[in-house]
Amino acid sequence: MADKVYIFDTTLRDGEQSPGASMTIAEKVEFALQLEKLKVDVIEAGFPISSQGDFDSVREVAEKVKGPIIAGLARAREADIVRCAEALKPAAKKRIHTFVATSDIHVEKKLRKSKEEVIDIAVNAVRTARKYTDDVEFSPEDASRTGKDYLCDVIEAVIDAGATSINIPDTVGYSNPWEFGNLIAYIRKNVSNIESILLSVHCHNDLGLAVANSLAAIRAGARQVECTINGLGERSGNAALEEIVMNLFVRPDVYNNVYTDIETTELFKSSRLLARLTGFDVPRNKAIVGDNSFAHESGIHQDGMLKERTTYEIMSPGDVGWIGTDMVLGKHSGRHAFKNRLKALGYTHLNEKEVEDAFRRFKVLADKKKEVFDDDIMVVIEDEVLTPEPIYALEYLHTISGSGTNLIPTATIKLRKKDETIEEASSGDGPVDAIYKAIEKIVGISGELKDYKISSVSRGKDALGEASIMVKIEEKVVHGRGTSTDIVEASAKAYLNAINKYLNTTYRKNSKSATGEV
Ligand code: KIV
Ligand code: ZN
Repeated sequence: MADKVYIFDTTLRDGEQSPGASMTIAEKVEFALQLEKLKVDVIEAGFPISSQGDFDSVREVAEKVKGPIIAGLARAREADIVRCAEALKPAAKKRIHTFVATSDIHVEKKLRKSKEEVIDIAVNAVRTARKYTDDVEFSPEDASRTGKDYLCDVIEAVIDAGATSINIPDTVGYSNPWEFGNLIAYIRKNVSNIESILLSVHCHNDLGLAVANSLAAIRAGARQVECTINGLGERSGNAALEEIVMNLFVRPDVYNNVYTDIETTELFKSSRLLARLTGFDVPRNKAIVGDNSFAHESGIHQDGMLKERTTYEIMSPGDVGWIGTDMVLGKHSGRHAFKNRLKALGYTHLNEKEVEDAFRRFKVLADKKKEVFDDDIMVVIEDEVLTPEPIYALEYLHTISGSGTNLIPTATIKLRKKDETIEEASSGDGPVDAIYKAIEKIVGISGELKDYKISSVSRGKDALGEASIMVKIEEKVVHGRGTSTDIVEASAKAYLNAINKYLNTTYRKNSKSATGEV
């Protein structure tokens, strides 16, 4: 019997630590529900002691997502573990993931403890966690820079104390496939009780080797990988889930025929959903889920593909849920065609009211643009149907701009806040600047625009435009997104989206301490 490799998704914890990638609780739940459809084994939903926002989101995910195990991160301290256990209470299946650093540099310079003291801290943490659940994972942080024999001592001690999975992190992305594979083999050979637990790895991408290191570890016997969708994560990110899974899928011969339970046809949708929620775009040439992954431009390739697809394609677009962009709806499309398209796009969980709402909005859009593509429908669903009522909503917008020397760009804007409407006007360097100043006058918040991008959601001159911005409000970088067939309106919506997120109290409380501060 071939072995299963467990997929532990840490997008909502390690991925979300990426500056600017913060999500609201509702967005985290939406993403966790998608991870459930993707059939990951474990969702690490957050680091409950780091902030009230993280605590609330772990709790909410634990309440709403019942398929996968829900994990929470805790430093090797009683207060962290108790808080983590509290957040995980509603989970059907829960795991406490506790960690302490073990490399010389971390032990001496950061923890300022002796190696024996660190073993005691680790053992006590695991014992404490076991009081709350039978499923306890331990990570020796910076394992790849830890002396091998000391690392084995730590692992043996925490397994004796009750750890049920041991995770080996390449915390700073320092390792390479040869060294990391050998480290896993060494641990398997030298830790006497290792076969009683699930051996896991967690690789960072500082040298671009996170996926390669994870795969080397699987070849050497690791049976859980910690990874994130699109490789999102601090610095250069974590190992990309979709790349690891599809490597195992396409080349079982290289990996002892191990398998995962991942529903690969959900990969594309998971990737795009995360990109939309965080504003971290997927590069066109990104493996597996980039726009160009299945595009064959050169004549020789196209000729070969027409004769036999496998001449140039090692997996089919359908394997990863690439839905194709040929199917187009328009203003004459009826409810039936629309509902079928929703199903094909994976929106099977919408209730009757949401489907009706989506259909109504689709009709409004179809009146504005001739052809409605899948991406347009996804934007309508994500931004308008599944997004809760904002604090400030755009009611009216009028701008004046032009290239004449005496022309001063101005904007008049009306926002709705519950039953109240507020109007303001402002001038600026351009229409967008004028709009942002008028919005700031109304909401009383001023942000520093860090990034501003306009792109088209689908094809055609009448395509929906998407404004995606990063704005710094006080010390927090917030992502905002807005779509419209008018890019000035899309820009206004993006700024309001960022402000609404910021004003969402749980989001604001979500400023966390780094996991390294032990
Ligand atoms: O990179 C790391 O070491 C971590 C641990 C908390 C597992 O994220
Ligand atoms: Zn990490």
